[in-house]
Amino acid sequence: MTAAPQSPARPLLPRPLALPDFPWDTLSPYRERAAEHPDGVVDLAVGTPVDDTPQVARDALAAASNAPGYPTAVGAPAVRAAIIEWMERRRGVAGLTQAEVIPTIGSKESVALLPLQLGVGPGDLVLHPRAAYPTYDVGARLAGARPVPVDTDADPRTWGIEDSAQVAIVWLNSPGNPDGHVLGVEQMARIVDWARARGAVVIADECYAELAWAEPWASQGIPSLLDPRVSADRSGLLALYSLSKQSNLAGYRAAFLAGDAALVAAVTEVRKHAGLLVPAPVQAALVAALGDEAHVEAQRSVYRARRQALAEASAAAGLVADPASVAGLYLWLSGPEGMSAYELVGAFAELGIVVAPGDFYGEAGAGRVRMSLTDTDERVAAAAARLRSPQAAALFS
Ligand SMILES: Cc1ncc(COP(=O)(O)O)c(C=O)c1O
Repeated sequence: MTAAPQSPARPLLPRPLALPDFPWDTLSPYRERAAEHPDGVVDLAVGTPVDDTPQVARDALAAASNAPGYPTAVGAPAVRAAIIEWMERRRGVAGLTQAEVIPTIGSKESVALLPLQLGVGPGDLVLHPRAAYPTYDVGARLAGARPVPVDTDADPRTWGIEDSAQVAIVWLNSPGNPDGHVLGVEQMARIVDWARARGAVVIADECYAELAWAEPWASQGIPSLLDPRVSADRSGLLALYSLSKQSNLAGYRAAFLAGDAALVAAVTEVRKHAGLLVPAPVQAALVAALGDEAHVEAQRSVYRARRQALAEASAAAGLVADPASVAGLYLWLSGPEGMSAYELVGAFAELGIVVAPGDFYGEAGAGRVRMSLTDTDERVAAAAARLRSPQAAALFS
């Protein structure tokens, strides 16, 4: 006798994770409209670098391409030494030890996974800037915690967080994406004091730190959370940095984190178990890129010129740039009173230009758009010319 065939059980998986929709898909109709422009589209929506990866990094990657063994989760001593040296030379953070730094697979990995890796869980709050890169919110949700946007430019006592609330992480992002705001040492010190009094960790995402456009930051440098003027010790503090933007290494996934040795050790433990290892050739490229300032200076000049061209042309079209946007890879623009972010995106699409609606970055982005500096000089010049046309003036009036 053969057993009666059983009806298959309802599959348990996949169970939906409580993640927001990936917002970029909503741009498709605007991209299509922009692509109809007779002189072609200018894509200033996604901040993906378009200039060549510097030769110094490519050569180092190629020279390290024979890599039969597994890399270690903490990274080779040479890569940690390069991070330590760079943090002192470029960020004024002296005396980091090998136990306080590790390379990571890009920095988005850390933004999304640090809450989980540090043991954040249900009942915890993860605070992040109001106008923010969406992944801070995503990382909190992946850990089962509650993301809460706060105004990191303001005194933390005005954030409206109850004393009884269990704040696990305060994310800072300086210079900010999308708003280009920079946090000074006094403001970071204030936030660190507030967080420490509650047992919370402060993590600063500093991936645009080499892109300062206004004084005092352009000549003094943008301060790191680990700057000794913020706090004499690094307990409860982590800073992230990425080579994606300064060195056009987004395709290599080359970044690192630095700070409190106990936090770095906890993160490393999870990364070991999960096999989150930075490939050895990428580690070699990281060492080479961190050791070379010339290509960073050259890339900064390229972005400075693009920023000036786009800022002036946007102003000529009647758009208003956030006056506190003084660094980073984006212009943060608003239009005439009452024009929504998507209406602005639609007007840009008529000009054959794609920009990102401020709504992607939280409620604080309403009525704004983010314009990236990442298209070629030729495309940026085309966008600037279109923004100076009578059509643009009419669209943004
Ligand atoms: C604020 C911010 N953090 C992190 C990242 C991630 O960069 P990557 O993973 O390339 O290091 C980005 C990328 O645009 C970003 O804007």
